[in-house]
Amino acid sequence: MTLLITGGAGFIGSTFVRYALRHLQPQVVVNVDKLTYAGNLENLASVADDPRYRFVHADICDGARMDTLFAEERPDTVVHFAAESHVDRSILAPAPSLDTNVRGTFVLLDAARRYGVGRFIHVSTDEVYGSLEPPLEADELFPLNPSSVYSASKAGADLLALAYFTTYGLPVIVTRASNNFGPHQFPEKLIPLMICNALDDQPLPIYGDGRQVRDWLFVEDHCRALHAIIARGRVGQIYNIGGSRALPNLEVVHRILAITGRPDSLIARVQDRPGHDRRYSVSSEKLTRETGWEPLVDFDDGLLTTVTWYRENVTWLEHVRSGAYREYYAGNYDARTDRLTRMRAAATSRPRWSPAFREARSL
Ligand code: NAD
Ligand code: DAU
Repeated sequence: MTLLITGGAGFIGSTFVRYALRHLQPQVVVNVDKLTYAGNLENLASVADDPRYRFVHADICDGARMDTLFAEERPDTVVHFAAESHVDRSILAPAPSLDTNVRGTFVLLDAARRYGVGRFIHVSTDEVYGSLEPPLEADELFPLNPSSVYSASKAGADLLALAYFTTYGLPVIVTRASNNFGPHQFPEKLIPLMICNALDDQPLPIYGDGRQVRDWLFVEDHCRALHAIIARGRVGQIYNIGGSRALPNLEVVHRILAITGRPDSLIARVQDRPGHDRRYSVSSEKLTRETGWEPLVDFDDGLLTTVTWYRENVTWLEHVRSGAYREYYAGNYDARTDRLTRMRAAATSRPRWSPAFREARSL
C-alpha cells in the first residue's frame, strides 16, 4: 500500500505516520505538509530514516503541485489531516481556515478522483454538529450546526467530500473525532497549553466560567480508529470517533494542577471565546458496531503520559514556543486578561517572554 498522509507533521498526523509505519505494513508513506506554525518535523525524527517514509514540503492548495504528486506517487489510500485546526486562530484570522480546510480539501479530492485513489479518508471533527445540550449525543445523521469559522470550514469540507462520493463515486469516508490530546500537541490547545503554563508557574487562562464540556480522546486511540476505518469502514459513510471521558474544562485543569503539583491560584478566569460552544458529544456506536473499535486509554492515564512527555521534552517545547508563538499568545490572551492577573504573573513567573508581562513588570 502507498499511503499519502496530508498534514503529517502536525499533532495527530505525525502520530498517525509513526503508527502507520508500525501497524499498517505500508510499502510507502508519503507525508505532504506545508510546515505552518503547527507543522514540526521534530515530531517525525524517529521515522525520518525509515526507507518507506518520504516527506514532501508542499501546500495542499497548490493544484499543480498536488497533480504532480498524485501522478508520481499513485497513492492507494489518502488520509487527509492537513488543516488550520485551532478555533481561536480562526477567530483572529479567518482566511487561512477557508483556504486550507475548504479549498485545500477540494484540490485533494479532485486529484484523488483523477488518479483513481482507492480510499480517501477525510479527517473531520465533532465540532461540525455544534453545541449540544445534555443529554443530546450526535449520531452521524445529526444536523450540522457549526459555530466557528474553523468548524464551518470543516463542515463545508465534509460536504464536498461526500459530494465527491455521490457525484463521482470517489471512495470517500468522513471521520468526526472529538478533542484529541497526547504528546506532540502544539501548546495552543487547552491541555498542552495548561500543562506548559503550569510547569512554568504561569497563569492558566480559563475562558468564561470553565464549565464547557469536551469529550477527550487520546491520540493513539484516534489512530487505532482510523486504522479500523481504513480496514473495515464502508465508503460513502461518516464515522464519529468519541473519547473516553467527557469533562468540564475546569475539571481538566484541576487534574493538570494535581499532576504537576501546582496551586489552584494559577487559574485565571479570562474573557470568553466569542461563539464558544458549551458542549460537544458524539456517539461512536456505529464505529464500534461495524469495526469493534473502542477507546482504550483511560483519561487520567493519558493525561499522566502527556504531562510526563512535556516535562521530558523541554527542547521540543523551546523550539515551538518561538517568537511567533509569543506573538500569537500575546494577541490571543493579553486583551482578555485583566491587568492585575498579568502583573501577578509577571512577578511570579520564570519565563518572562510575554510583552505584556514584561510591561507589567516594569510598572
Ligand atoms: P495540527 O494543527 O497539529 O496540524 C496541522 C498540520 O497541517 C500541520 O502539520 C500543518 O503544517 C499542516 N498544514 C496546514 N495547512 C496546510 C496546507 N495548506 N498544506 C499542507 N499542510 C498544511 O492539527 P491536528 O490537531 O493534528 O489536527 C489534524 C486534523 O484532525 C485536522 O483536520 C483537524 O481538523 C482534525 N481534528 C483535530 C482534533 C483535535 O482535537 N486536534 C479533533 C478532531 C479532528
Ligand atoms: O472537538 C474537536 C476539536 O477540538 C477539533 O476539531 C479542533 O481541531 C481542536 O482544536 C479542538 O477544538 P476546541 O475548541 O474544543 O479545543 P481547544 O483546546 O481550543 O479548547 C478546548 C476547550 O478549552 C474549549 O472549551 C475552550 C477552552 N479553552 C481553551 C484554551 C486554548 C480555555 O478555556 N482556555 C484556553 O486557553
